[in-house]
Amino acid sequence: MRNIVMGNWKMSGTKSFIDSWLKDFFESLMKYAEGSKEQLPEVAICAPAILFPYLEQEYNKIVDGDTKGAIRELIDDLKLGIQTCSLHDKGAYTGEIALGMLEGMDCKYVLVGHSERRKYHAETDEIVSQKTQKIIEAGYTPVVCIGESLETREAGEHKEFIKKQVLDCLPAGVDMDKLVVAYEPIWAIGTGLTATTQQVEEMNAYIKEVVSKDRGVSEDKVVVLYGGSVKPANAKDILGLKSVNGVLVGGASLKPVDFFDIVQQGK
Ligand code: PGA
Repeated sequence: MRNIVMGNWKMSGTKSFIDSWLKDFFESLMKYAEGSKEQLPEVAICAPAILFPYLEQEYNKIVDGDTKGAIRELIDDLKLGIQTCSLHDKGAYTGEIALGMLEGMDCKYVLVGHSERRKYHAETDEIVSQKTQKIIEAGYTPVVCIGESLETREAGEHKEFIKKQVLDCLPAGVDMDKLVVAYEPIWAIGTGLTATTQQVEEMNAYIKEVVSKDRGVSEDKVVVLYGGSVKPANAKDILGLKSVNGVLVGGASLKPVDFFDIVQQGK
């Protein structure tokens, strides 16, 4: 399958940031198109919900102006996503975003269970599982984030922890074709500390094995990304691993030229 290179802008961005990000990203893409026709990975951006409509609108303008069709040809489309959603459909939940509010917008992905949501917003495995179900029912693709802490890793309990976490986060009977898992060891997020390629391969393969056994699906149906300090310098090695189906990129996704560099390393 084609790799997925997904950016997570976290709590960053403004309208002017989007203007310059799109300009620089698509300039890099057009330059690439002059020298290569090789198709690129699927590219997605999970933006802050408040900026989503502007990103969608400005992206559509760029696609409309791309008379050569290079964007559609090389990346198919830039998929858009948001970073969290409410568990509730409507009601008095100040500040929350209901999935129904995405109506009419071209959203594909919804991140769920990111370690920062777990840490600062008390998102438990049970909530993650319920949200995952709701996101699928609403017609979007959940990106279920899991990952162990440094403490758990140092205690040598990471496999046990991840097994329980991933199985608890996946709703019973869920169709594995409808979701993506992202393995993001907490100790590698935003720290500059990337897991080694051996560690990434070991854990991504383990997640595929555990889910495949538990849910009775083949391992290739379990799509697992890696996230945690992915950057141009390490992307090729990570994206080339057998059990890695793509990457979730935080910090480096804010730099459009670096992000494009990562994208083209995943082809
Ligand atoms: P990072 O973030 O690439 O900045 O480490 C990854 C993530 O949190 O998804």
